[in-house]
Amino acid sequence: MESLEFNKIAFAVLSTCLFVMGIGIFSDTIFASHAPAKPGYALPDAAPAGDKGGAAAAAPAMPLGEMMAKADIKRGETTMSQCKACHTLEKGGKAGIGPNLYGIVDRPIASIEGFAYSPALQAKSKTDGNWSFEHLVAFVGNPRGYANGTKMAFAGLKDPLQLANVLAYLRTLSDNPAPMPK
Ligand code: HEC
Repeated sequence: MESLEFNKIAFAVLSTCLFVMGIGIFSDTIFASHAPAKPGYALPDAAPAGDKGGAAAAAPAMPLGEMMAKADIKRGETTMSQCKACHTLEKGGKAGIGPNLYGIVDRPIASIEGFAYSPALQAKSKTDGNWSFEHLVAFVGNPRGYANGTKMAFAGLKDPLQLANVLAYLRTLSDNPAPMPK
């Protein structure tokens, strides 16, 4: 009696195993696996630009146009609240501790009538002419590095992406925004 029960169970288990194995072999023949010629997604060549740490070291080498293409105007506006301690931004705004910044992109350096610019920035107006994006990056990124002796008591924006955001926002403060850098 007992051994008959055992045999039944053993048979059931064994036939189940055979059945499962059978399916395995059968499906292997249908779905023979081929490695795709190309992976379905492109592997990035370098670390993504948003990647913290890597970006800080790699970004200064990034061309300005590329940097600006990633820029976020809204974030730039938020960052520029630091600048508003000294600068007005609206058209025809009065000078504060610093000159009004409306239309700053491509404006001649140190050109607001009646503002007492430092000799350092006045000298830059002779050598560099206008506030191109490149000059703005240099100055806003490191004011004293660009114009040694500037009156702008500001450490500078060290994060290249933050700097790009600010430039993208500054560009909008104009009747006629300058073309984006290439
Ligand atoms: C503590 C005050 C202060 C802060 C904060 C400050 N600035 Fe200035 N900024 C000045 C002063 C003062 C000058 C004039 C510099 C000179 O004559 O050397 C100036 C000049 C400038 C100029 C040149 C303007 C011209 O007419 O040639 C630009 C551009 C500028 N600032 C951008 C910025 C930006 C962008 C920020 C924020 C990220 C900022 N500044 C933050 C005080 C400040």
